[in-house]
Amino acid sequence: MKKFQIASIPADGIGPEVISAGIEVLDAVCARSGGAELNFTHFDWGSDYYKAHGEMMPQDGLDTLKDFDAIYFGAVGAEDVPDHITLWGLRLPICQGFDQYANVRPTKIIPGIDSPLRNAGVGDLDWVIVRENSEGEYSGHGGRAHKGMPEEVGTEVAIFTRVGVTRIMRYAFQLAQSRPRKLLTVVTKSNAQRHGMVMWDEIAEEVSAEFPDVTWDKMLVDAMTVRMTLQPETLDTIVATNLHADILSDLAGALAGSLGVASTANIDPERRFPSMFEPIHGSAFDITGKGIANPVATFWTGAQMLEHLDLAEEAQILTSAVEQVCADGIMTPDVGGNATTAEVTAAVINAIRGANR
Ligand code: IPM
Ligand code: MG
Repeated sequence: MKKFQIASIPADGIGPEVISAGIEVLDAVCARSGGAELNFTHFDWGSDYYKAHGEMMPQDGLDTLKDFDAIYFGAVGAEDVPDHITLWGLRLPICQGFDQYANVRPTKIIPGIDSPLRNAGVGDLDWVIVRENSEGEYSGHGGRAHKGMPEEVGTEVAIFTRVGVTRIMRYAFQLAQSRPRKLLTVVTKSNAQRHGMVMWDEIAEEVSAEFPDVTWDKMLVDAMTVRMTLQPETLDTIVATNLHADILSDLAGALAGSLGVASTANIDPERRFPSMFEPIHGSAFDITGKGIANPVATFWTGAQMLEHLDLAEEAQILTSAVEQVCADGIMTPDVGGNATTAEVTAAVINAIRGANR
């Protein structure tokens, strides 16, 4: 029996609702397979913690987390705490401190959930977006001078390093190689951004030489939105900078039918540190506490976590169960159903218990 220690950080808004649903489901998967045990340790960090202590997590937070096998994360963001504090106080320090440089965002049309695209159904849209997660436009470099004066300046500097770009390209090519179509699209903006982005393109070219069996192409980010919308079936694995992929992954979620089902993994591919798994949707205070948050994204990222822990069979049991429940129409209102979080969770657990192995 393989045993894993998982840190759970539900944090804000609907985070606690979806994470507790996720833990129930993961426990059911492990009980079904009998091959693994996940022990969860809960941390109450987030915006309420900030209001009580003046910081989103304790100073030694990263030290506390570093020996866990993975982190299961809910969402950050509160109505009465500025977004840059919630983000830079918890989620980004974990991503950056643990060098989780590959952010992996799978998107596909799930049976039972309709895409807004007229001609796209199950199988026509099955992508993985690889987001550079350690530098680029999110490097935190920049500042403000002459604050409040007419001559005030603000800079926001995007940083691209050869090491950073090479490792994300290599990760993306490898991932593309592991998928049946072996197809990679490198997103860029080197027509307008003529320094870092030109280097980005050059490094893509260099790394591609290591992967002769991967078919790849390059796409300007603006044109990419058109291709995603009009020719979704021509895409498979996609790699883009931190900001470009942030935007494209929201589009991807919408095109697949809902952000409520979109998941993400913040991965340290070298496994020096724990990787972090979370739903993309955020804290959603408008529906917090109503019991209708969509837990599917959190289940999906749970499956990504199982895969990362080399529990492929367990991941498979979980994704099949989720697909079956969605196909049966047991879904929350955001995707056109009328089930509650608890009902979806119970249905998925039922499907897991009945799963063939
Ligand atoms: C995401 C989110 C975050 C990001 C926000 C909350 C800052 O949109 O994970 O895509 O831009 O990274
Ligand atoms: Mg985003």
